[in-house]
Amino acid sequence: MTPSRRSLFQAVGAGALIAASASEALAADVPATPAPATPSSAAPPDFGTASSANNPVNIVSPAHLEAEARKMISPGRFAITGWCGDGVTYRANRSSLDATPILTHRLQHINGEAIDLSTSILGHKLPFPMINCPMGGHGSFHVDAEVATAGGAGAAGALYVSSGASTRPMEDIAKATPGPKWFQIYMLRDMEINRWLVQRAKAAGFSAIVLTADALGPGQSDDYIALGRPRDPALTAGNHDPRFGGRGNFADQKRDLSFADIRFLHEASGLPVVVKGMVEPADIREALASGAAAIWVSNHGGRQMDGGPGSFSLLRGAVDAVKGRVPIIFDSGVRRGNDVFKAVAMGATVCAIGRPVLWSLMCGGAPGVKSVYDWMAGELRSTMLLSGVGKVTDLKRRNLSIAKA
Ligand SMILES: Cc1cc2nc3c(=O)[nH]c(=O)nc-3n(C[C@H](O)[C@H](O)[C@H](O)COP(=O)(O)O)c2cc1C
Repeated sequence: MTPSRRSLFQAVGAGALIAASASEALAADVPATPAPATPSSAAPPDFGTASSANNPVNIVSPAHLEAEARKMISPGRFAITGWCGDGVTYRANRSSLDATPILTHRLQHINGEAIDLSTSILGHKLPFPMINCPMGGHGSFHVDAEVATAGGAGAAGALYVSSGASTRPMEDIAKATPGPKWFQIYMLRDMEINRWLVQRAKAAGFSAIVLTADALGPGQSDDYIALGRPRDPALTAGNHDPRFGGRGNFADQKRDLSFADIRFLHEASGLPVVVKGMVEPADIREALASGAAAIWVSNHGGRQMDGGPGSFSLLRGAVDAVKGRVPIIFDSGVRRGNDVFKAVAMGATVCAIGRPVLWSLMCGGAPGVKSVYDWMAGELRSTMLLSGVGKVTDLKRRNLSIAKA
């Protein structure tokens, strides 16, 4: 925790800390302290209610889906999904993908009925190279929170990644999907709580731990701040809420993360550790030397630090640093099946879908979340046919218009 951040938490009294914590978790990707449910009049009136939609969503385009999602909840709730600073990195995530055209190969004798999107990661067979990004606080967006998101992912056949800052406890989320699942941890300074969390995740059926390495600051959008940081004090940090068997001071984040934490999490859980937020080849090599079982290339969707490059522009260097030793997950800016095509062709094993999953959750709950996977898989299948590739595992850099390295 930065000195200013820690002093914020220490300066406020317990009641204020609890009240502030949920909004911190939900709006800043920063976990909250356990909060007894004391719904209070502190919630600004314009925060409104979460969506209760429960229907498939007819997705036309990402822009259309986002516009529809905006109509489902108040501006205060929607602003939680924003980006930090001027949005330079947020926009670069898109422009770096847009700047890399897909190359097509003709007359490849591809059977359009038999395009194979399946792949595998860390021992799990997946129907397509898409998983979700861990994202905190789904209770701000939908009344069924992560239970709906996990249910929709499971119905689509996707692996579900559960955020350490979830509104619901991890056991409820695990039960909501029959599919494989990973648990993302925001480490606390108390290492015994970290040990307990990952062992609890293993007992609940999560098969890997995702260590998020890049969420060390407040990360709130200007829009959210301008709206007065509205919050719903009834929303709690599900994994730490004593009502659900939780413990630990979730506000007391470990900010001095190091490569040693990878080994700690592996030894504490006995599970593979995926390191999320990696962008620099030197860091990636050191993470692998420290036992990372997979590398997740991400800049947190431009929510943490503004001014960095688009995530896709860093993928090639990351893939070359990994040299095929472990799987690679790619996120930040993925909006279409075409983006998945590009990332896999560049060398990622799977893409993680972020904001579009939240938009579809707002628009349709669990069936809506399934819709977003179906829609992206449909476009990916179509682009593979049109570009002359029959199997997703056959995608190569030859399918992209990029300079030869
Ligand atoms: C509302 C929201 C909450 C997030 N919470 C988390 C989190 O709890 N843990 C984490 O590792 N990343 C979190 N992220 C970052 C995502 O995992 C992912 O890196 C990012 O959304 C990718 O950018 P994109 O959504 O623009 O594609 C969050 C992102 C959003 C939009």
